[in-house]
Amino acid sequence: MSDSVPARIIDGKAFASGLVDRVAAAAERLRGKTGVRPGLAAVIVGDDPASRIYVKSKGERAEAAGFHSETVRLPEETTQAELLAVVERLNGDRAIHGILVQLPLPPQIGADAVLAAIDPDKDVDGFHVVNAGRLATGGRGLVPCTPLGCLMLLKHELGDLSGLEAVVVGRSNIVGKPMVQLLLGESCTVTVAHSRTRDLPEVCRRADILVAAVGRPEMVRGDWIKPGATVIDVGINRVPSKEPARAAEGKTRVVGDVAFDEAAAVAGAITPVPGGVGPMTIAVLLANTYAAACAAAGVEAEPLDA
Ligand code: GUN
Repeated sequence: MSDSVPARIIDGKAFASGLVDRVAAAAERLRGKTGVRPGLAAVIVGDDPASRIYVKSKGERAEAAGFHSETVRLPEETTQAELLAVVERLNGDRAIHGILVQLPLPPQIGADAVLAAIDPDKDVDGFHVVNAGRLATGGRGLVPCTPLGCLMLLKHELGDLSGLEAVVVGRSNIVGKPMVQLLLGESCTVTVAHSRTRDLPEVCRRADILVAAVGRPEMVRGDWIKPGATVIDVGINRVPSKEPARAAEGKTRVVGDVAFDEAAAVAGAITPVPGGVGPMTIAVLLANTYAAACAAAGVEAEPLDA
């Protein structure tokens, strides 16, 4: 499309940075008013390098926002009973308002049992079935960080979403399903597509809002996108470097689930990878922890939307 206007790039990094600032300021006011300092505990089992980086970063960001932060590092051979005992202790710790158990867990531990053991009011990942149920029934609860971050970016970009056609590609419990519920809550007409969907490109071409959360590098092509649509790319995929010499050295780069250059030529707005949805996840985790601390203190959380 030679006469196309290039898509606006949705700057998730800048939005996340503003959100963290607002959370930190609101947390400071909460502390002044009630003496309650939001506290976040992150639990990691084993030595998965990516998980270690995430958890370290969560702890650092929580402290930078003025939160109390605790990181529990457990060895790879930890039993389910031992992990459940840690969760129980954190459930009962009044200084902790948010508990996050980093996934994946080693094979001897059942993630479902561990997530079910977290106090739903401290479940800042929003993974507990009680929070999934609250979200599905329109109740108040803690919402998974990544889809909530996507919704914030969409509302910032588009304002009222009511009546828009939204297509979510991916049906995971962590992103796809809660994203569907959030968009329904905004009165979008929502289609959830997945690996068995017939004629996926045609389904995607209906979307005013297209959310890609499948974990397949650059699967969504430019001709799958309705001109002017808003595209939210949740994918974080490592692929070999573009330069053959660097690829041969094992160097990688990160791409999304959307073929960015093609999509940006058609879309109205699009999140880049990196720098789009990724930075939102920890920012929303802090927002959720602030909200959980407000609930524990018996005060209304301040609105944090930009
Ligand atoms: N592993 C990858 N992403 C996440 C996340 O958002 N929360 C937790 N607990 N584990 C993860």
